[in-house]
Amino acid sequence: MTAIGSCALQLNWGNSTGNIRRKITVSRGRYSPKGSMGHHPVDGIVIRPCVAVDLESVTGMVTRAQLSAGGLADQFGERYVVAEFSGQMIGCAGVEIRGVHGLLRSVAVTPDRRGAGIGARLVRDRLDWARSQGISTVYLLTETAAGFFRRFGFETITRNEAPQDIQDSHEYAVVCPSSAELMRLRF
Ligand SMILES: CC(C)(COP(=O)(O)OP(=O)(O)OC[C@H]1O[C@@H](n2cnc3c(N)ncnc32)[C@H](O)[C@@H]1OP(=O)(O)O)[C@@H](O)C(=O)NCCC(=O)NCCS
Repeated sequence: MTAIGSCALQLNWGNSTGNIRRKITVSRGRYSPKGSMGHHPVDGIVIRPCVAVDLESVTGMVTRAQLSAGGLADQFGERYVVAEFSGQMIGCAGVEIRGVHGLLRSVAVTPDRRGAGIGARLVRDRLDWARSQGISTVYLLTETAAGFFRRFGFETITRNEAPQDIQDSHEYAVVCPSSAELMRLRF
């Protein structure tokens, strides 16, 4: 990746009693280094694939974050991950596979853990996973977090640029077209 101007970004590796700050480099708005799909034991936060019994708690977290939980059950399982600290779920994210495309959805961090880099780790994890599945383009819809996703290289596109597979998704159907941004990331 060619870096045209880079800047320092601070992520807070958080815990319940305080934060340890770590500086990494961002080039052209993309996080680097890439996240992994595995565990992050260094600060006690674990990111792990979901299993069926997680559906209820992920649905609760997504709903509390005021995101749509519609259709969540359709592709639930290893396409979703949760972040946990001391066995407590503190975040979640998933990628639906829609034809040859990915749809990033349900990215949520519990309010008292926001701003500590957990959302970014969840997104990196899911993007790495999507890449590992041979997906080359990931879409998402967001009403409130376009600036967050731009950091990973997502760009806003018009709704008619969405491929039919994405337009057929539950997310696309329910998210308000006038207030939501449709974003695309090509690997
Ligand atoms: C969006 C969300 C997942 C971010 O999680 P988080 O753990 O707080 O994010 P991070 O700590 O990894 O943030 C990384 C950076 O993005 C920024 N950021 C976080 N949320 C942002 C938002 N909504 N808009 C723009 N920038 C945002 C942070 O300020 C931070 O910047 P910094 O490194 O310069 O300080 C979280 O705020 C959330 O759960 N929101 C409600 C659900 C939602 O809107 N999800 C997105 C649609 S699927």
